[in-house]
Amino acid sequence: MGKILVTGGAGYIGSHCVIALINSGYDVVMFDSLEIGHIETVKTLQSIQAKGSVVDFIQGNLQNLSEISDVFKRHNIDSVVHFAAYSQVAESVKEPQKYYYNNVYGTLNLLNAMLENNVKNIVFSSTAATYGNPVYAPIDEKHPQIPVNPYGKTKLMIENIMDDYDKAYGLKSVRLRYFNVAGADYQARVGEWHNPETHLIPNILKSTFSDGKTFTLFGDDYDTKDGTCIRDYINVEDLANAHVLAIKYLNNGGETNFFNLGTTEGNSVKEVFKTCEDVVGKSVPIEIHPRRAGDPALLIAANNKAKSVMGWSPEKTLRDSITSAYNWEKILQERIQKKEMAEI
Ligand SMILES: NC(=O)c1ccc[n+]([C@@H]2O[C@H](COP(=O)([O-])OP(=O)(O)OC[C@H]3O[C@@H](n4cnc5c(N)ncnc54)[C@H](O)[C@@H]3O)[C@@H](O)[C@H]2O)c1
Repeated sequence: MGKILVTGGAGYIGSHCVIALINSGYDVVMFDSLEIGHIETVKTLQSIQAKGSVVDFIQGNLQNLSEISDVFKRHNIDSVVHFAAYSQVAESVKEPQKYYYNNVYGTLNLLNAMLENNVKNIVFSSTAATYGNPVYAPIDEKHPQIPVNPYGKTKLMIENIMDDYDKAYGLKSVRLRYFNVAGADYQARVGEWHNPETHLIPNILKSTFSDGKTFTLFGDDYDTKDGTCIRDYINVEDLANAHVLAIKYLNNGGETNFFNLGTTEGNSVKEVFKTCEDVVGKSVPIEIHPRRAGDPALLIAANNKAKSVMGWSPEKTLRDSITSAYNWEKILQERIQKKEMAEI
């Protein structure tokens, strides 16, 4: 059995996927520029020796064709799991050039390197952002895909490119459309580590570490049960397991396909906030600000397709995700403090 190439393996979701792959007995090659991901994460992943899997790391950038081609020449790669991308919606509106170049051009280099080396299976991190504003809920895979920001557009373009590469070159893809990813490894070995952090749960948790800090809530006048936006929070370990199933699906001869990864359950911002306060055992003052442009009231996934085709079901609750995220955040805060101390 060859290795699995994980692009973006030093990042948040990629690192959890590497653990899931190791636990399933796969050998892994991580490819990451470390622009956002961290070398500490790579070292942690390489120290996990479950079932004797090999975990190699290559620092490189998908924008450079020779760097990614070289990986296929030096390693016997079976399949690819492709996480590497920029993924901040607001930044993509301000700097679309950066997003189209990294996400689309970077992926083209990856796909071309795969074809050159006769590797034909890829699992791709797509997103609920490819659907754009919901026309109905829950959103199933047949929902129109009309993304409303450059980030979502880059991901839809890649999905379309993958369809054309299948028709012309027989490249098989599974596109996993994630909803709101949350939580951390249950042993707190890896977790969400972004700077700046744009996601709700780590930001609420971060605000519990500094006294007197308030949490900004955007909009409490939506047409929802408590007036705040409802999202579908999918646990990162549940999500990682879906990638292992997607690899197996492709290796068993599965056709190109696409699946939502969500729980079908929605939680409001206020519910998330309250659960964070419960888990941490501390209250944080909220400041209500007006709605942000482009935030729909409700985004939840229909997930039956992933269940019926790949046998995937999410198991963890929102509270599980928040508890693991908090355990990880404590470690992260310690690391940050140590670094600051060392720099003084
Ligand atoms: N986090 C979410 O809620 C969410 C939701 C939907 C989709 N996604 C998608 O999932 C994937 C992973 O998200 P994440 O939150 O783990 O992001 P992340 O930023 O933590 O990880 C991405 C990794 O890719 C690396 N990278 C970026 N561009 C690269 C390049 N050109 N060459 C090599 N490495 C590169 C970064 O250094 C980083 O380590 C992304 O494609 C994202 O669009 C994430």
